[in-house]
Amino acid sequence: MKELENSVYYNGTDYCMQSLKLQEISENAETPFYVYDMDYIIKKYNRLKASFPWENVRLFYAMKANFNPVMLKIMKENGFCLDTVSPAEVILAKKIGFASENILFTANNMTDKDMEVIKAEGVLFNIDSLSRLETYGKYYSGSQVCLRINPDVVAGETANVATGGDLSKFGILLEDVKKAVAIAKANNIKIVGLHEHTGSGIADTGKVFQSMQNLLGIINPQDFPDLEFVDFGGGFKVPYEPGEVEIDYEKFGVKAVELFSQFCDRYGKKLKLYFEPGKFTVADSGCMVVQVNTVKNNKGRLIVGTDSGFPHLIRPVLYGAYHHVVNLTNPQGEKKLYDVYGNTCESGDCFAMQRELPEIRIGDYLAIMNAGAYCRSMASEYNLRPMPAEYLIYQGKLLTAKKKISYEELADRILSEYEI
Ligand SMILES: Cc1ncc(COP(=O)(O)O)c(C=O)c1O
Repeated sequence: MKELENSVYYNGTDYCMQSLKLQEISENAETPFYVYDMDYIIKKYNRLKASFPWENVRLFYAMKANFNPVMLKIMKENGFCLDTVSPAEVILAKKIGFASENILFTANNMTDKDMEVIKAEGVLFNIDSLSRLETYGKYYSGSQVCLRINPDVVAGETANVATGGDLSKFGILLEDVKKAVAIAKANNIKIVGLHEHTGSGIADTGKVFQSMQNLLGIINPQDFPDLEFVDFGGGFKVPYEPGEVEIDYEKFGVKAVELFSQFCDRYGKKLKLYFEPGKFTVADSGCMVVQVNTVKNNKGRLIVGTDSGFPHLIRPVLYGAYHHVVNLTNPQGEKKLYDVYGNTCESGDCFAMQRELPEIRIGDYLAIMNAGAYCRSMASEYNLRPMPAEYLIYQGKLLTAKKKISYEELADRILSEYEI
């Protein structure tokens, strides 16, 4: 079976990231930890951008996928733009040095307070409901917005990450677009952008094209005379499982630009083309390394216990997502079937079930692959275990982005946050 493209590769004796051996990094670090390949991230972002042969294409990395500030700082230095979803994301991005014009804020069920905070940061709003547009219009008459339109296409890796269709909470329905135009007009709001995001990890690019067509189909110069860009969101797929489909985004980019170019001819202006890749940018750039502390043989079923759990990598539990697991310490061991578990008090706290892996022994290091997106950013301190450390490999060097705090420090921090 063809090896997937990934920041982690096997050189015949060791699993490596760039030229560094993950086993050696593990021996010198405290597990669990996340490690990300920064050069790989930059390469993927630039490659995706180059897939769209359009003069003015911009990629807004969806920082909800991974908000590691050291990563974000290097992204800024490399010309990335950001898609944000909360006031704290916007403030963090600004503190790191991203210019307001390189940040988009995609609102969902935003409060008036959120709106105030973000407005003060000077970031463009992507508004996703008629009621919020009315409120926004009342406060900020004369300003500009982008509108999030629900493309009426249901697609995504799982039901939880499909965001289109009229059962979804996201966006303004296609049939309500005229109402949005009227609200904007009544409040002297300029609509400078239109947006859709169909879902995450979409395997069927036909659905993506359908969404693009549905959005472009409602745009005309009479209703939207001030448009500067159209934003088609994220959802670019990354293979997680060996043998999984790898989408040819260069081919996709050419088709998408063809569609967009024809639209711009009809509209009468060459607009900017935006996308918001989160998962695609960072998912396969990193892994989480855990250490095995228990191996049980339960009537023939081999159960492995590790020093992390779903609080640090929740996607298998939350979505039934597949994450590939490799044994860094014993890559050539005899293959056996294992259930690989975490250390929290939940029976479902499992990273991989009935997975064929080289023999696992107590003390072995396992890498859980594709942990770059929606792992640390979705992590919690459930069971009161400290967050893993985070490392970046950038230009051949291992950088410590975040140390793991001690149990004592975690307990003290909790105490300090409460009025005890
Ligand atoms: C509005 C918006 N843009 C972009 C993204 C990023 O999606 P992905 O990580 O699948 O590229 C999301 C994900 O939830 C989103 O809601």
